[in-house]
Amino acid sequence: MQVSVMTTAAAEADEAVAAVTADREAADPPPRHVAIIMDGNGRWAASRGLPRVAGHRAGAQAVRRIVESAIRHGVGWITLYAFSSENWRRPAGEIIDLTGLLRHYLRSEVAELKREGVRLRFIGDRDRFDADIVADLTDAEHATEGNSRLNLTLALSYGARAEIVAAARAAARAARLGNLDPEAIDETVFGGLLSTSAMPDPDLIIRTSGEQRLSNFLLWQAAYAELLFLDVLWPDFGPAHFAEAIAEYARRERRFGARPA
Ligand code: IPE
Ligand code: IPE
Ligand code: MG
Repeated sequence: MQVSVMTTAAAEADEAVAAVTADREAADPPPRHVAIIMDGNGRWAASRGLPRVAGHRAGAQAVRRIVESAIRHGVGWITLYAFSSENWRRPAGEIIDLTGLLRHYLRSEVAELKREGVRLRFIGDRDRFDADIVADLTDAEHATEGNSRLNLTLALSYGARAEIVAAARAAARAARLGNLDPEAIDETVFGGLLSTSAMPDPDLIIRTSGEQRLSNFLLWQAAYAELLFLDVLWPDFGPAHFAEAIAEYARRERRFGARPA
């Protein structure tokens, strides 16, 4: 596998290129919803002889850059896979590092995100986090609920199969109570029971780090998403990569099963 290890500085130096690309692509509507599997933090750190936590820290910096890029490109919805339900299987030390960074991110970034007009949402099993984090997540959602410039969703302790099973359970419970006719369950009704009910489906799903799999991310919602797998490690992902992803999306022909135009 070829993984380019572009430095953060180089990615930022490419900002001018990104701006030009953005202008060039301005004629094409951007994807409404971009979802990103932010992978490769550990390999980024290892390639520098650093502990994995340094990669996670650098990954959090990349999130900040991507929020700015999304706003600049007029993308209304960004969903970031930050922690999967399976990531709880990692060693205790890494879990402590990751939850510590999440705590720090929430305390240091929410006020700025609010000022920038970002509405924050969280999907996933938040109750698995410590109570103070759960409280911060809820506070961040409430503090930003009046915003609409960018809808930023972080998937935390998220697993698509668990999400689908929870929706099925909710439907079964409602049917048992007589509140839902099983015959009335269609894709719209079922989609409304998912944690993503407030969002449009992702148009573009990007995975960094060279891995080509979804790792239990948005399995229902990804039905017709365009997929883009990039050989860049998440901490190196910058505005130029985002601009190139938007440009690649514009070159794709979406058919949704219909005959080609
Ligand atoms: C992504 O980076 C962040 C999380 C999954 C929490 P990784 O930690 O998976 O980094 P790699 O894949 O080992 O390089
Ligand atoms: C997927 O990455 C989850 C996140 C990026 C948060 P992983 O590193 O956990 O995925 P696998 O284990 O390589 O499939
Ligand atoms: Mg990984």
